[in-house]
Amino acid sequence: MKFFIDSADIEAIEKFTKSGMVDGVTTNPSIIAKSGKDFKDVIKEICSITPGPVSAEVTATNAEGMIEEGLVLSKIAKNVAIKVPLTWAGLEACKTLSDKDIMINVTLCFSATQALLAAKAGATFISPFIGRLDDIGEDGMDLIRDIKTIYDNYPNLKTEILAASVRNIEHVKKAAIYGADISTLPPQVVSELAIHPLTDKGLKAFLDDWKNSGQKIL
Ligand code: E4P
Repeated sequence: MKFFIDSADIEAIEKFTKSGMVDGVTTNPSIIAKSGKDFKDVIKEICSITPGPVSAEVTATNAEGMIEEGLVLSKIAKNVAIKVPLTWAGLEACKTLSDKDIMINVTLCFSATQALLAAKAGATFISPFIGRLDDIGEDGMDLIRDIKTIYDNYPNLKTEILAASVRNIEHVKKAAIYGADISTLPPQVVSELAIHPLTDKGLKAFLDDWKNSGQKIL
């Protein structure tokens, strides 16, 4: 499974990209607004840190506007993926831009039929929002499972499932079990992936015993 970092926090992106465990970045207008930085500048900076896909979201609501914005954003760097919302206008923009070999991330997906349309429109990535479905009392993981089943039924569909709105490591585990290709994670969740209290406890015991043995490797 690939991991993307769902953030515009440069320090976190640098840190986790260096670890070799993070393969790309996603942003959205809320994340960019929170960063307080200029949209195009921050996308350019992120693209210079990671060679993987960096999602930059359009804000127009009609297809023509999305296409126009998408073409501008796609010129920032080769690894920009244009994010469009899962609306009819977004699907039209997805089709037009993907026909020009531009990577497209179709976002705000809340149903399997929406995901099917995005794949037909040539999306590179479909972003089902797990956490926001959990927030309204549904199980977001059911959506990952359904999309995976549908896409597997039609091997000509090449869209990758990008589990989004991931809030905890249990989400990451389940998305991997159900076969999502990618999870995009807030920096806090990335940090937690490698942590287990028994690892820390075990390591401390090993190091104490080693110290008492008086031996050295180097
Ligand atoms: C994905 O691309 C979105 O930016 C993100 O995962 C949304 O997550 P949220 O529901 O926690 O805002």
